[in-house]
Amino acid sequence: MASTLTGRRALVTGAAGGIGAAIARRLLRDGARVMIADIDATGGARTARELGEPCVFQAVDVASEGTVVNLSSIFGVTGLPAFPAYSAAKGSIANLTRLLDTEAAAESLRQREAAAARQPIARQCSPDEIAVAVAFLASPDASFVTGVLLPVGGGFLAQGDWRGPGQAA
Ligand SMILES: NC(=O)c1ccc[n+]([C@@H]2O[C@H](COP(=O)([O-])OP(=O)(O)OC[C@H]3O[C@@H](n4cnc5c(N)ncnc54)[C@H](O)[C@@H]3O)[C@@H](O)[C@H]2O)c1
Repeated sequence: MASTLTGRRALVTGAAGGIGAAIARRLLRDGARVMIADIDATGGARTARELGEPCVFQAVDVASEGTVVNLSSIFGVTGLPAFPAYSAAKGSIANLTRLLDTEAAAESLRQREAAAARQPIARQCSPDEIAVAVAFLASPDASFVTGVLLPVGGGFLAQGDWRGPGQAA
């Protein structure tokens, strides 16, 4: 099967480790040329070495940069009690994604958002399961998908009450 991202270039921020590194690995596997960026210069350089060619690293503080696929959280949809700042920041990503989508339309940029949850139905989500969603959103297969939120939460949002046993409201 042909790689879906051959000829594409991707910039993955926050990719020294965690989900960002998994996304970079997946995009490389799908044929993209990948630049990873992170505020952690040591960790970023180490991850780029591990991922190998054609992955390069650039130390950067993304507080001054933009993104196309934004990584949010299920708690940007439901809110997480006792974490108002996190919930507000993640919730704002949905609106930012929609706003940037309309502003970027003239430049043919498509804004998408992947929302990750730590507690899906019966187990934790793996970084690779987030990475495959990002790879899809970045691929030509998603050419008519834009300005949307794609929850990657194992049915998390389908639950009427997200609290588990012993976590009464
Ligand atoms: N891990 C989870 O269970 C989970 C769940 C829901 C949402 N998320 C979201 O997914 C994203 C990644 O999560 P993770 O678990 O991989 O996090 P992580 O902490 O493992 O990785 C985050 C990376 O971002 C880098 N970083 C932080 N500030 C930066 C800046 N200003 N400029 C450049 N790089 C910077 C860090 O150095 C680090 O390498 C986050 O936005 C997180 O909120 C994660």
